[in-house]
Amino acid sequence: MSPIPFAITCPRLVTCDPARATPADPLGVIDDAMIIITDGIVTDAGPRAEMEQRWGSVAMRTEAPGLVTPGLVDAHTHAPWVGSRHLEYQARLEGGDYEAIAKAGGGIVSTMRAVREASVETITSALTKRLHRMAALGVTTVECKSGYGLDEAGENKQLEAIRAAAQAPRTPRVVATFLALHALPPEVGADDAARAAYADDVAHGRLSRVAQHGLARFVDAYVDRSAFSIADARRVLVRAKELGFGLRLHAGQFADIGGAQLAAELGALSADHLEHVSDAGLEAMAKANVRAVLLPIASMTLKQAPPPVEAMRRLGVRMVVASDANPGTAPTESLPLALALAVRNYGLTVAEAILGATREAAASLGLQAVGVIRHGMAADLVAWDLPHEAAIVQPWGTSRVAFVHREGQAIA
Ligand code: NIG
Ligand code: FE
Repeated sequence: MSPIPFAITCPRLVTCDPARATPADPLGVIDDAMIIITDGIVTDAGPRAEMEQRWGSVAMRTEAPGLVTPGLVDAHTHAPWVGSRHLEYQARLEGGDYEAIAKAGGGIVSTMRAVREASVETITSALTKRLHRMAALGVTTVECKSGYGLDEAGENKQLEAIRAAAQAPRTPRVVATFLALHALPPEVGADDAARAAYADDVAHGRLSRVAQHGLARFVDAYVDRSAFSIADARRVLVRAKELGFGLRLHAGQFADIGGAQLAAELGALSADHLEHVSDAGLEAMAKANVRAVLLPIASMTLKQAPPPVEAMRRLGVRMVVASDANPGTAPTESLPLALALAVRNYGLTVAEAILGATREAAASLGLQAVGVIRHGMAADLVAWDLPHEAAIVQPWGTSRVAFVHREGQAIA
């Protein structure tokens, strides 16, 4: 028996389909539209009158109240965390410095302690709840990084929790990233030699075991003045590439030490943060088609100036917007909030922001059937209780979602 198609109608559809885009309409908008979905896949999408002619009367129909967009794709999160960093946040409100707090054993290492004490089940439960809250905000795909276990047992625990949470009902699609170099765990020491030895252990031991168990699709490294050097990251990422992982990098969050160039050299799918990046770094990224993942919540929390968005446009670097959800620099789970700040603080257009959280975000995760509403794509979509795409960046701090489908199934 062939699967029965159903239809969603809406007054306004943002397709994000490049085949429909024009300079005046970069989002490929269709007014009074209909989407036909069969077995979790979009089989057709277009003006309602045209669809009705082509498909006759589809028996099952849902009328969306307003705007429909592709499901949002959050391409950078540290979602599998537990514990709380409220005292650290308080200290930073009183003038404390993020890098100094980390150096003194707080920051990432304080979440490391909470993660090491927690069971896989506890982390899975925290992550599953977080994924459900993200779905309620319109998110249908979430990249989840490890990076808070730091030793092998702790990192594996996070990666196993990601795998388990991804199986829970009504969750977004999950893409797992092994954040192999995030911070140096205190037990290995604190100098450059300890850092290099740690990177070697990851490159020559731990990576292949993560690959063997199929625990992650991407490997990430935090390259910065108080994190890992280009040399350490290159050793790990070269090996990761050999093992078949896709690559992403935290680059230029506090200082430009050449992370953007390294991302380009290794063919990473993204370089993320980039508050500090040179034109040369951006040129290299544009040439190698490395997307820039912008994280406006983190830079706001850290009181940083925006990344050089105008240079990214001029040099042809494609932009992604993500939440960075984490307990230190981005205390949020809201990708719509990141979109609001990308527009308000970074000066992205509404179209750039929306493409950055749909089509471009999906491309940065290597997902070819996600992020666009057109024939053959996964039926991931958000029906908003909003009349127009420009309204998505206005209702801060609240969900304006009517319903959310992942592969044709309601998840919120
Ligand atoms: O993306 N920059 C490093 N990693 C995270 C913050 C992690 C934390 O403070 O827990 C980030 O901002
Ligand atoms: Fe991050």
